[in-house]
Amino acid sequence: GEPLDDDQVRWFIAEFTAHEVPDHQAAELLMAIVFRGLDDRELATWTSAMVESGARIDLGGVSRPTVDKHSTGGVGDKVSLILCPLVAACGAAAPQVSGRGLGHTGGTLDKLESIPGWSSSLDLAAAHRQLNEIGCFIIAASADLAPADRRMYALRDVTGTVASIPLIASSIMSKKIASGTDALVLDVKVGRAAFLRDPDDCELLARTMVNLGEANGVRTRALLTAMDAPLGLTVGNALEVAEAVECLAGGGPPDVREVTLALAREMLDLVGIDTDPVTALDGGAAMDHWRAMVTAQGGNPDASLPQARYTETLSASSVGVVQDVDALAIGRAAWVLGAGRAVQTDPVSATAGVRLHAQTGDRVKAGQPLMTLHTDDEGMLSRARPLVETAIVIGDDPPPDRPLIQGLIDRSA
Ligand code: URA
Repeated sequence: GEPLDDDQVRWFIAEFTAHEVPDHQAAELLMAIVFRGLDDRELATWTSAMVESGARIDLGGVSRPTVDKHSTGGVGDKVSLILCPLVAACGAAAPQVSGRGLGHTGGTLDKLESIPGWSSSLDLAAAHRQLNEIGCFIIAASADLAPADRRMYALRDVTGTVASIPLIASSIMSKKIASGTDALVLDVKVGRAAFLRDPDDCELLARTMVNLGEANGVRTRALLTAMDAPLGLTVGNALEVAEAVECLAGGGPPDVREVTLALAREMLDLVGIDTDPVTALDGGAAMDHWRAMVTAQGGNPDASLPQARYTETLSASSVGVVQDVDALAIGRAAWVLGAGRAVQTDPVSATAGVRLHAQTGDRVKAGQPLMTLHTDDEGMLSRARPLVETAIVIGDDPPPDRPLIQGLIDRSA
């Protein structure tokens, strides 16, 4: 229970990254941190040692201010696909180093890889060029971006040591700090399908990450946003890309639009750009930047997206108003249908997922379609069906208003 001094923390991170500390001993320290936490100084040193375990991306030659976004992961969260081209269209540069999905939440790279030809790897020179010319990229982390985290996350995953606020905060922020951005907006999900279930823990995680960003010279803010129901009407890789494109065309579900615009406003404000992003979204400039980004990364923005071989539609059994759509149940069903992975090395299906036909607050009739399951593996339909049969609750009264944007965490004055 005694604190570790800075040399001990730095020694552990360096030796662990170099494979000099065996996994079973590292797991004991991680478990101790799960139970005892890290104090502020330990956490600051731990995070900077993780950053220093690899190379920092140098975005020094980029002519626009750089601002990134990170989401703690949600069901149907396709916001990055819209947000990066949107803030680029408003004059910022959005260098997004993104990840793949694990469990019931999807990953941005998996979604983008459903676009024929699109590639998540860019060398540094091409990335710089793309930022200066188009204003955004979305790429996979290279092996030398916070390698301590790569190794530690794999060990945490198999030793039950993921759920620790200091370990989560240092893991996320070490990668974001190493990615060289000037500013960062965090979308910390709160609700039944959020990474952390307790709302107080979500707020503490947000505060901890904002403080770590600020202490490392990255202007950082966090929005707390609701993750009880899926965001939008689609969950699954190609299905979500199609919905993101609808939003970029100025349409799409109002909840996706609201979260995207709220994050865009924070991002632009952090880098001092006084522009309303609605104009770029509705006027087509965000779409132009999306098409340019996809093309620059080898994709064809006009290509048809892959479609699932099998679908099954579930319908409402009674008339009424949708009270609730359970994001966790829908996310798990999409995962069973093939959209997600159980371990990092599993492949994912581009076509699998769930398309909702109703959202909370919509009035439905008996027999009206509520959702369609999509998969390439017919046998998975009977496994996914029981997960979602009770996911949509229909009642008589309008459901209570639940705000999507639940809070803003900025640096302490
Ligand atoms: N995402 C990360 O990158 N790290 C964590 O520890 C948890 C979620």
